[in-house]
Amino acid sequence: MENLISLVNKLQRACTALGDHGEESALPTLWDSLPAIAVVGGQSSGKSSVLESIVGKDFLPRGSGIVTRRPLVLQLHKIDEGREYAEFLHLPRRKFTDFAAVRKEISDETDRETGRSKQISSVPIHLSIFSPNVVNLTMIDLPGLTKVAVEGQPDSIVQDIENMVRSFIEKPNCIILAISPANQDLATSDAIKISREVDPKGERTFGVLTKIDLMDKGTDAVDILEGKSYRLQFPWIGVVNRSQADINKSVDMIAARRREREYFANTPEYKHLAHRMGSEHLGKMLSKHLEQVIKSRIPGIQSLINKSIAELESELQRLGKPIAADSGGKLYAIMEICRIFDQIYKEHLDGVRPGGEKV
Ligand code: GDP
Ligand code: NA
Ligand code: MG
Repeated sequence: MENLISLVNKLQRACTALGDHGEESALPTLWDSLPAIAVVGGQSSGKSSVLESIVGKDFLPRGSGIVTRRPLVLQLHKIDEGREYAEFLHLPRRKFTDFAAVRKEISDETDRETGRSKQISSVPIHLSIFSPNVVNLTMIDLPGLTKVAVEGQPDSIVQDIENMVRSFIEKPNCIILAISPANQDLATSDAIKISREVDPKGERTFGVLTKIDLMDKGTDAVDILEGKSYRLQFPWIGVVNRSQADINKSVDMIAARRREREYFANTPEYKHLAHRMGSEHLGKMLSKHLEQVIKSRIPGIQSLINKSIAELESELQRLGKPIAADSGGKLYAIMEICRIFDQIYKEHLDGVRPGGEKV
């Protein structure tokens, strides 16, 4: 089944590459029909930390204030072996093996689009990470929801961020990872507020509770984690990310994960929930869920799953060959691939795409 996510990843990348060629064709519809996971929450709720622990790498810019000012579309690709590396869509020929350089490039590329001001932009940055240690997933990191503009920002920024976040999570194919910090009242959670707006029944929202280790003495998160405080269709997941002090001391991700595991296993209140808590469990569960969603949304593609990715790649090559010499070759190949998918929709889904649109 992993192949299915890889396949969709490939399609997503192909569609994006096409967009990068300045070609706005029917493909955005295809992009929208492919599921992805968007991370939402208030500023400093722990979004970047959660993403980093799912990836198992430090690579996101951090700091106080609005650090994430453009959407980051992050595709995780599991590879069988070899050294892990990252690639940006806007730098197609460069392989990053130094993740500190990845962090710097995210922040430089943010500035290139927005200027050094604290403006935001809805133009995404696309980053792919290839590693033996990841699960296949596509995740979107979004700017944190905020209540007030800071010095140098227009007052409209609060609303602008909210609108941007909403534009991603209102799509029916979007899976929402709603991040709420345990040391604040759940009733005030920005993540819950906005996800409830677009997904009132909690059918595609995963509640993630961060900062459980920072709760006031004498209080615990058991009611939330057991779904008694705010009910979602999926079970809540608690995580313990690295604190700022840990980050300053460069506590690595492996040590942090081990500590997180020990925290849930050894805290009497959470012992009974330990098997479904933590970042590692979160990553696995999301990947599994994404598989299920893809499977249910595009049953017609199932015949294609059985084909190996290698076959798809050689198919891509075959299709691209006639005009491979010129720069349009890739474009041509991608369009051919997408034509194939349209074909699949036509033949297997009675001509109707998941969005309800006629092919
Ligand atoms: P973002 O603004 O939502 O992306 O939040 P960050 O991931 O940057 O986290 C904000 C701050 O909270 C950082 O200093 C993190 O180290 C800290 N933090 C995040 N999650 C946890 C957690 O579970 N426990 C502790 N102790 N600190 C956390
Ligand atoms: Na929040
Ligand atoms: Mg962040």
